[in-house]
Amino acid sequence: MTEATDITVPQHVAIIMDGNGRWASRRQLPRVAGHRAGVENVKVIIERCGQLGIQCLTLFAFSSENWRRPTTEVELLLELFSLALEEELERLHDNGVCLQVIGDREGFPDKLKTRIEQAEDLTRSNDALNLIIAANYGGRWDVTEATRRIAAAVAVGKLSPDEITEDTISKYLCLTQLPEPDLFIRSGGEQRISNYLLWQLAYTELYFTDCFWPDFGTTEFDRALERYSVRQRRFGMTGDQIELANIPASSIA
Ligand code: IPE
Ligand code: IPE
Ligand code: MG
Repeated sequence: MTEATDITVPQHVAIIMDGNGRWASRRQLPRVAGHRAGVENVKVIIERCGQLGIQCLTLFAFSSENWRRPTTEVELLLELFSLALEEELERLHDNGVCLQVIGDREGFPDKLKTRIEQAEDLTRSNDALNLIIAANYGGRWDVTEATRRIAAAVAVGKLSPDEITEDTISKYLCLTQLPEPDLFIRSGGEQRISNYLLWQLAYTELYFTDCFWPDFGTTEFDRALERYSVRQRRFGMTGDQIELANIPASSIA
């Protein structure tokens, strides 16, 4: 297999880290063991992104629909998130990671909200890797929030309805300051978006794998990157146009 270091790497990778629960069930372990193993794997993938010079990594940690899970699992997921933030922050900072959390954090316990703010403040100026954690995030929530804020801007006369373009909407959504995801990965076998970055994934290359998240290590990640590198991104054009112009994929969108 080609070494991932030899291939065109995406600027922005967005991942749905799915399959923790089934990983644990297969081993007759409680679901929490799967979530713990999942957190360990997050560290592996962050490190790999750093090695490969990937600029942005967006990870779906908790969806706006995950509140529907049993209370004990929800509490545990939030606790694990909080703990990982506490334990990993210094290392992330030392490695130049800029951490940002997207999603509706109002529903979180105060301690977690404070930790998120501290982590974002501390790492704001870092530029080795943008790590975005989507927590209590939903694509529909994102679009709704953006719409609300655009409507507010119109209501006070800061924006006229005629001026609203796709760019305007993008600017009001999460991830506005980053390149759109080039590669989307979902582990765990399901082939759906589950209310992830609905707007932002419009032209993202999709990659699905049966591998459960705790097992989705460097080898699996490199395989996804390799598959990405041989895709032709056309953005509505023909394959001939892309080949003739020799347009780098990242410069079109
Ligand atoms: C993903 O793993 C983690 C979160 C959704 C927080 P799951 O917990 O969904 O694992 P499965 O899909 O039940 O195996
Ligand atoms: C998506 O996984 C959300 C996260 C990984 C955080 P789910 O396991 O919640 O997705 P569905 O419910 O199977 O679509
Ligand atoms: Mg799942």
